[in-house]
Amino acid sequence: MTARRLTDRLGGLAFGGDHNPEQWDEQVWEEDDELMRVAGVNLATVGVFSWALLEPEEGRYDFGWLDAHLDRLHANGVAVDLATPTASPPPWFTLAHPDALPVTAEGARLVHGSRDTYCLTAPAYRAAARRIAAALAERYGDHPALALWHVHNEYATLCYCEHTAAAFRMWLRDRYGTLDALNESWGTAFWSQRYGSWEQVLPPRATQWHRNPGHTLDFSRFFSDEVVAAYREQRDAIRAHSDRPVTTNLMMPGYQNVDLWKLGREVDVVAIDHYPDRPGRSAAADAAFAADRARSFAGGRPWLLMEQGTSTVYDRGRTLAKEPGEILRHSLAHIARGSEGALFFQWRQSKAGAEQWHSAMVPHAGPDSRVFREVAATGAAVARLAALAGSVVTAEVAVLHDSDAWWGLSSDGLPSSELDYHSALRNAHRAVWDAGVVADFAHPEADLGRYRLVLAPALYLLSDAGAENLRRYVADGGTVLVQHFSGVVDDRAQARLGGYPAAPLREALGIRVEEYRPLRHGERITLSDGSHGTVWSESVRPQGAETVAAYTDGMLAGSPAITRHDFGAGHGWYLSTRLDDADYTALVARLLDTVGVGPVLPGLPPGTEAVTRVAADGRRWHFVLNHRTEPVQLPTPAHDLLTDGPVAGLPPGGCAVLNGGTSL
Ligand code: GAL
Repeated sequence: MTARRLTDRLGGLAFGGDHNPEQWDEQVWEEDDELMRVAGVNLATVGVFSWALLEPEEGRYDFGWLDAHLDRLHANGVAVDLATPTASPPPWFTLAHPDALPVTAEGARLVHGSRDTYCLTAPAYRAAARRIAAALAERYGDHPALALWHVHNEYATLCYCEHTAAAFRMWLRDRYGTLDALNESWGTAFWSQRYGSWEQVLPPRATQWHRNPGHTLDFSRFFSDEVVAAYREQRDAIRAHSDRPVTTNLMMPGYQNVDLWKLGREVDVVAIDHYPDRPGRSAAADAAFAADRARSFAGGRPWLLMEQGTSTVYDRGRTLAKEPGEILRHSLAHIARGSEGALFFQWRQSKAGAEQWHSAMVPHAGPDSRVFREVAATGAAVARLAALAGSVVTAEVAVLHDSDAWWGLSSDGLPSSELDYHSALRNAHRAVWDAGVVADFAHPEADLGRYRLVLAPALYLLSDAGAENLRRYVADGGTVLVQHFSGVVDDRAQARLGGYPAAPLREALGIRVEEYRPLRHGERITLSDGSHGTVWSESVRPQGAETVAAYTDGMLAGSPAITRHDFGAGHGWYLSTRLDDADYTALVARLLDTVGVGPVLPGLPPGTEAVTRVAADGRRWHFVLNHRTEPVQLPTPAHDLLTDGPVAGLPPGGCAVLNGGTSL
């Protein structure tokens, strides 16, 4: 069961969004039918937050209204992505099962009044979620409108209650077998934390000062496994009654409560939500970042952009509007990198409720609006790309991505609060994006053989297997760039002894890091090649590596800052400071050059994105997106699928999907 089946059923790529007809009356439904036809909507996500209507009292279902909407949508040629409503339990549920409400790390039990107020490990919640999923699947499992199942919505709510404590202990028993093994792993000899019985182990609730890093890391792993288990329960309840593909929408890239490599393996099609957090070119780079992650979690297969905003850029406390043209360009940015369509939250902007100011495909102003006209134009463009369904995107560069490293680097007590995993990952991806090259993300223990270049930013935690994998990758001819404070702890969050990083990686890099030296606030150091670093420095001892650039200031003056090592058939590079963005981008560009990886359409100016999708029969399409404020000339004129005509250049903000011939 794959994305392919979804697009087969739709007859092309998906276009549409969350449709919440329960917020409106009949007159609006009729207008919705008409406007969906105008906009080219072929897939509507229904029921995400409908639990209170579907099950008004425990065990009493009211499906009549949903029957009517599914039939109406079907008659209108719109397929349905039917959600289970479990992200928002109704008030009756929380009153009947107060023990199923989430408890914060500080011990406050939250109450209903928003959404996502549930404890994932509470037996009553899990049972209720399975029940409503099964009831929906039994009723709609083979409904002709049904194209996709959408389990839950953005699994994310952490809980520290007694149910969680009990489930956490079971998870720990399973992992460690004995308390001695747990005590050893967490290093509980420090600060008198030794556990004498399993009952003494709690979730990492609010405490006096730094929490134990092994404890917090294992809790993150445990919670992630709980999410996967909760998803599987609903998925399996659905599969008992339905053969349609099942997915869940993964959180935006900045949230890391779930190991998305694991969850990606459980869904029939990976689906993501994406809302940029900066305007302009950064939004475009962020869309590429999110899309490349989604494709990687999908194992390279096509995936689905489940949610984006028609006019929503969250920027540090403000919600900025998308500029004219961005609805199409952002949609194509995702499709270029493997999405089988472009969906939005939500179809019609709510007039009441907590998200009444969130953008939508039909804004408060109605269809006579810039937003709706751009939506309809985007729907028409997506419809012209039907032939691309099932085609894929390949990359020759990978950025390593590991939840354990992320969680490890979120520990208390690190030597700098500016070691941020997410921004390090984004910077690495951005540098590759700026070079006009597509990157995959890869797990450190995955087979990296198909990549010419691997970037390892902020890989704080690295397992023995991961370190050996990277050593082998370089020995076999790969080029890796490992960045500061990587490979410094093992998979128990225990420090590597004898010098950093982990021994097999030291061998590949030909260095030994003897000491880490965070820089003072505002300190900016100069390297011998003229580049600059902030935040961090390290005392690096070469053990076979050559110095590419040395520190010029302070106690590290003259010692290596950037190194390169010929190892086996490959090259291991090490970067021991956080370079300024422009210098880092230049270093990555140099490495891309060394390994001979360049843009798919050479000659385009920076800020022009070009990505190729390739079909199984070898047909190719080049997406060209001009994120600049100036026009751009194409290297050679080509046929544009969006206009079904020739194109030689793009205006500012313009897009084209070029017929790239056949590569087989
Ligand atoms: C998503 C969520 C939607 C809506 C949207 C607003 O994360 O799934 O329900 O809240 O954010 O941007």
